[in-house]
Order: sequence, then C-alpha cells, then structure tokens
Amino acid sequence: MRKSFRNIIGFAVLLLVQNLMIINAADWTDAAHNPFPTKIPDHVILTWSDNPVNTQSVTWRTDTSIKQSWAEIAEAEASPNFTYYSKGINAVTESFVVENYSANYHSATFDGLKANTLYAYRVGSEENWSEWFQFRTASEKPQPFTFIYLGDGQNALLSLWSRAIRAAYGTAPDSRFIIHGGDLVSNADSYTQWSKWFKAAGWINAMVPSIPVVGNHEYYHKLSEKRQITPYWFPQFTLPENGIIKLTESNYFIDFQGVRVIVLNSNELIGDQAKWIEKISENNSNRWTVVSFHHPIYSGARGRDQEEIRRSWQPLFRKYAVDLVLNGHDHTYARGGNIDAEDGIVYVVSVSGPKQYDLTDDRWMTRSAENTQLYHVIRVEEDVLNFKSYTVTGELYDEFDIQKNPSGPNIIIDKQNEDLPERTFKNTPGKPQK
Ligand SMILES: [Fe+2]
Repeated sequence: MRKSFRNIIGFAVLLLVQNLMIINAADWTDAAHNPFPTKIPDHVILTWSDNPVNTQSVTWRTDTSIKQSWAEIAEAEASPNFTYYSKGINAVTESFVVENYSANYHSATFDGLKANTLYAYRVGSEENWSEWFQFRTASEKPQPFTFIYLGDGQNALLSLWSRAIRAAYGTAPDSRFIIHGGDLVSNADSYTQWSKWFKAAGWINAMVPSIPVVGNHEYYHKLSEKRQITPYWFPQFTLPENGIIKLTESNYFIDFQGVRVIVLNSNELIGDQAKWIEKISENNSNRWTVVSFHHPIYSGARGRDQEEIRRSWQPLFRKYAVDLVLNGHDHTYARGGNIDAEDGIVYVVSVSGPKQYDLTDDRWMTRSAENTQLYHVIRVEEDVLNFKSYTVTGELYDEFDIQKNPSGPNIIIDKQNEDLPERTFKNTPGKPQK
C-alpha cells in the first residue's frame, strides 16, 4: 500500500473514531424502556403501612384488564413445597387513567406475621403470577441491622441511576430497607420516568422494603391548579398514615428494631409538622432516631439555603436527640456534625443520580464531593451507628461512627480515609466540549 494512501485511510479512520466518540459522548439520554403495564405484575414494591414486626405491605401494577389480583404468602422454606402451604389475600385495586396512560395498581398488606421470620410471597392473578420474593419481618426487640440511603435519583433513571441502587444492594444485600431522600424522578407526572425508576430497581424493590420521601420534583401543578403531590405517589406506594392528615403518606414514621425513622415533607406545612414532631417524640422509646426529608438543614450547594426548615425543625431535633438527618436536593455530597452546637447530630446531603451541582463555599462539612454518584450503607448497633458512603463504583469514600454517650450528646468519630482526595469538578471528568 502506498504511504499516501495509508495516510488517507488513517485519517479517515481517525475521523470515524472521533465521530463515534462524539456520538458515544452524547449525554444522559435514558435507556429505552416500554413504560406500559401488561397482564403480568410489575413495579412490585415492598413498603410498610403498619408495624414491620408483624405486617408487610406490597404494591404492584398491571394493565386495566386485571380487575382482581391477589397476594400469596408462606413462611419461606428451602423445600420448594412451601408453595403448597401459602395463603392468599385479595388486593385492593385502584384504576389510574391519565391521557394515554392507564394502569391498575394493586396493594395488599400481609398481617399476623411472626416476628423476625423469613417469608416468601408472590402477587398476581390466574395465570399471571410474579416470581416468589422473600423478605424478613422485624424483630420485636432492638436488634442490629443495616439499611441503605439514596439521595436524589431524578434523571437518566434507567441509564445512570440504576447503577446506584444496584451497587448499593450488591454492597449490602442484607439491608432491611432503603430510604429514598426525595426527587425520585424529575417530572412527577411522567409515567415513563416512574416506570424507569421501577425498572432500574427491579426485584430489589420486591425484596427490600422502601421508605420513600417526597421531594419538590414529586410535586406538579396542572395549569392554574395548586401545586400538589403527583397522583402517581399514592397508588404506587402503600405507606403509614400516622403523619398529619393533610400530608398523609408523605409525612410518617416507622419503628424498626430500635430505630425510629421519621419522614418529613419539606415542601409544605413546616409548622404543622413541627407540632407533629413534638407529639410523636414525647413517647419515643427507640434508642436511635433517623430523620429524612428532602431539603437540607445545611445546604450542600452554592446559593441555596432552607432557613425556614432549619429554624422550625432543628431545635426539635436537638430537643429530642435525633442522631442522623438524611437530606438531598442539592446534588452534592456533604456530611458534617456538631455544626452550630455540641448536639451530636450528623447531617448528610447526598445524591445518587447523575445531576451534579457546585458545592457551597460555606465549609460546614467534614467531608464532601462534587460530580459523584453515591450510596450509603448504615449499620445500627446498640451503641454505635456506623455510616459508610460509597461511590457508585464501589469505592469507600467516607465513613463515620455516631457513638451513644451516657453522659452527654453523641460522640462523632470521623473515619474518612484522609489519603483519598475529595472529589471535585476540577479533579473528576468534565463533559467534553462540543
Ligand atoms: Fe430537589
């Protein structure tokens, strides 16, 4: 081959490769997905609407031809013949129609379950059953356990958020629940985005109960109507109705093996929820209290501050000795404690999806990250709560312990790896220039 001809071919190959790189460096275009339901149950998700010691709720979706659906349950057993000993209950079915989307959402709550027992269940109807999934009920008494926290998923749910929830499950498959800190999706009235959220989590949702928090992106308003929680929220998640009535299923609490998880709706009725925090905290006998809501007490991003929430709720967190506050909204990672007072509370802002903001210049945090998708694995024991932050590539990025202190506020032990540089926009890959 003549040298000049080789050069021409080489140049052509280079152009092709560059073009391919440009095509591949597209953006966060989400993965392809058919969002419509079928006769076969999908979007199967465990939540609690009652006591995790002896109840478990499950919710799923079918097309509208399935008018009656069932849930079956049995104690799990290594012999496949446990299926012959299952009992069935009727689901409550809710029809949902918006424009070109329709679905039937079904829910059932198993009750009378034995504490700390592994159960298997399936959902469906006639010939269209799900697989058998397994879950364990909570112990009656405090017992050490692990749970997962995920900040905002929100964007490119199937193509990029999926790796966060899957890596979290891979790191801690024995987790007993997953808290989602709000902004699960970007457009609250998009059935496509909700369907991608469910698809990304897949059977993890059917095995590990979810505790979802509403963010601002779970709100929407139709023309001239008041901004409200998306109508998808209620049929998709079967949640406790122990919060304030106006915020049913977006303000609630769950007690699990010595931990009270308080879910607040930071979008509205802040004062009413403050009164409710007082009410439920007076008789809280749990050793640990974890609070999650969307808008952070201390902001992780530039130019954002939630003064009303901080003014209204933080004194109560101090009064009632909350241990850990889990927030999102700011699309950064920021973790710090004892910020304005020796109160022993740790505040965490995090993000699990791809949308990323600049960190605030206010250096209140002990550890932070920009441009990083993360998940968190929290282990609660009698006297120590251990918190680990992982990047979605499985790197242990941050760690601390909250230690109970009989003579005062919690002691916070920083265990971050000081040799690991903080991730910033400057030292992580940026978007290619077009
Ligand atoms: Fe948000």
